Amino acid sequence: MARTLLITGGASGIGAETARRAAARGYRIAINYRSREAQAKAIVAEIEAGGGEAIAIPADMAREAEIVRLFDETEKSLGPITHLVNSAGINGRRGRVEDYDAAALAEVFAVNVVGLMLCCREAGRRMSTRRGGKGGAIVNVSSMAATLGGRSGSSAYAATKGAVDAFTKGFAREVASEGVRVNSIRPGMVLSEMTEGRLSDKAFRSGIEASIPMRRVGETHEIAEAILWLLSDEASFITGAMLDAAGGGYII
Ligand SMILES: NC(=O)c1ccc[n+]([C@@H]2O[C@H](COP(=O)([O-])OP(=O)(O)OC[C@H]3O[C@@H](n4cnc5c(N)ncnc54)[C@H](OP(=O)(O)O)[C@@H]3O)[C@@H](O)[C@H]2O)c1
Repeated sequence: MARTLLITGGASGIGAETARRAAARGYRIAINYRSREAQAKAIVAEIEAGGGEAIAIPADMAREAEIVRLFDETEKSLGPITHLVNSAGINGRRGRVEDYDAAALAEVFAVNVVGLMLCCREAGRRMSTRRGGKGGAIVNVSSMAATLGGRSGSSAYAATKGAVDAFTKGFAREVASEGVRVNSIRPGMVLSEMTEGRLSDKAFRSGIEASIPMRRVGETHEIAEAILWLLSDEASFITGAMLDAAGGGYII
């Protein structure tokens, strides 16, 4: 059966690496992006040069109508969506709880939680055998932040990822008998566009590395490979699981 994988936030970091590696394994790829048009198009060109099939589609995960259009356009170009990776995410404003700002909280929850849940809604509507679909697999990109509340100043981000994990478990049980598997992956600190600014500070990086049992940050391919395994039939009895890809988590 043809496999079509939609990746939100697929133009950079973990999403982009997942796109490249999934294309090499025969998936047709839809790369969603928000502002990174050139990066998205470059990955499409790279995949096509390797003999694969890919398209790039802009859509803001904070806007429901754009999410619905993203799914419609993907299916129009590539056929039924069989796999989904929700990688789009933002850090949001870092800071202490006493300095919270309602608009900033709403923004980080809109992208990391509500957008992801609406993508799952769209995927479920299309994949569920209860609605005439052929089943599928979904991976939600959570974070190790969900486990301990995040590093200092990241409690709001951690709360969004905790919500992702709870939602993943609930949704997975709802569609488990309808051919759809839903899992989340919890990366630890990974070198990507999201973190390279902070990790270029040597003192910050060595502090982070000292807190990880493997004593190093991760690379995007190490997360992408775990995502691809969760998407694959090799993980056929796994749903509602949280897979930590984090070098052992935190030293506490
Ligand atoms: N890197 C880490 O250490 C780490 C650790 C744990 C979890 N994660 C999670 O892994 C996922 C991927 O992050 P990454 O490390 O690969 O960083 P990244 O390169 O910054 O990837 C995030 C992507 O999401 C996109 N995005 C953000 N808001 C969006 C929106 N409203 N609509 C559509 N796309 C949007 C970004 O595009 P724009 O810039 O154009 O908005 C970007 O391409 C995120 O969910 C993140 O929370 C990362």
